[in-house]
Amino acid sequence: MSSSVSSLIESLVAAGKAYENNEPGAREALIDNSRALATSLEIPSEFLQRSFWAEPALSASIRIAVNVKLFQHLKESGESGLSAEVLSAKTGIDIVLLQRLARHLVAMHLLTFRDGAFHATILSNGLAEENYQDSIAFCYDTARPSFNGFPEFFQKTEYKSPSLGTLDGPFQNAHKTQLPFFDWLIATPPNLQHFDSFMSAYRAGKANWYDPGFYPVAERLITGFDTSESDVLLVDVGGGRGHDMALFCAQYDSSAHKGRVVLQDREPVIAAVKEASQNLPFEAQAHDFFTPQPIKGARAYSLHSILHDWSDEDGVKILQNLAPALRKGYSRVLFNEIVVSEEKPTLAATSMDLMMLAHFAVRERTEAEWKGILENAGLRITNIYTYPGVAESLIEAELA
Ligand SMILES: C[S@@+](CC[C@H](N)C(=O)[O-])C[C@H]1O[C@@H](n2cnc3c(N)ncnc32)[C@H](O)[C@@H]1O
Repeated sequence: MSSSVSSLIESLVAAGKAYENNEPGAREALIDNSRALATSLEIPSEFLQRSFWAEPALSASIRIAVNVKLFQHLKESGESGLSAEVLSAKTGIDIVLLQRLARHLVAMHLLTFRDGAFHATILSNGLAEENYQDSIAFCYDTARPSFNGFPEFFQKTEYKSPSLGTLDGPFQNAHKTQLPFFDWLIATPPNLQHFDSFMSAYRAGKANWYDPGFYPVAERLITGFDTSESDVLLVDVGGGRGHDMALFCAQYDSSAHKGRVVLQDREPVIAAVKEASQNLPFEAQAHDFFTPQPIKGARAYSLHSILHDWSDEDGVKILQNLAPALRKGYSRVLFNEIVVSEEKPTLAATSMDLMMLAHFAVRERTEAEWKGILENAGLRITNIYTYPGVAESLIEAELA
């Protein structure tokens, strides 16, 4: 056995013990170590088979599964599972094709087969939820063609980094459009709905910045909350459908503070949020973040996965529209974003970085790059909070 394999096994055992003890980040470390071990054991033919046939065939089969509600049918069948004949009748896929696709899902550990029937797993049952079904559609229909087009696109551009925020990037090349990503989503239903679901699902199950042990909300926001100038505790700028604010309000309700919590996003997104529920635990306000922030002197403004969508130039414009609303020495700006480690980049950070390259020709930033963009907008970082196994950090900033 090579020394690298034995040291990976040692790391795996250590991560396994931490997992048994429910240590934060241990599950993610165990997965990472398992992947490293499998890759170090694979010979080139096996690597090729897994990465270039097995994984693409898996995602294509799963995209079909979404169309025919295969995971939902298996979930409903419970312990008994479904024979190929019944699953074929329920999905409308002919039995031979159904068996071939489902067998690959078994081989890839997404389903099991026993006693003559296909059975769901905990994972396939999770993927049967609507948010994940929509997310699979977004990843397959929108993101995958953008990645597939990388080699041709970068050959054409002579391997130059696309200029940040360009409207002629890998996404436009793959989807034969000149529209910016968000405009294209709106123009091509149901892609906007799929993307919005992806935004609420892609990091589900991970600790949020407001969860215990991550960012100390009580100490940094509630203590010192001063209603003399504004009774707004938190504004979520570009907060999408409000999944963060719904969870924040569930954890910090009126017994924890007397402040208002406001979700802001573009008009169509806010209209959809209001239509979906008459009984929101937060206020919802249409606001274009390229225009001056209307809520002045709030205790905090959060921007979750916002600046990573934009070039430095646009990012500075967004912040310059926010900065005049900040009360010096009081208002905090909370960026929930990836801070890319140059020494130990993680799969979560690098895959998101390439997702950003593909769709916006922008990038995830290192700590030095974050400092630079904030300084250009007159802000300074006060602290960076992290949580084990979570890709995004919480960068706390204030007026410099
Ligand atoms: C990457 S999503 C992040 C959503 C949410 N903060 C989250 O982390 O799930 C970016 C959000 O910015 C919103 N957005 C894009 N352009 C905007 C603009 N000019 N003004 C306000 N919101 C905008 C989009 O509608 C979308 O909800």
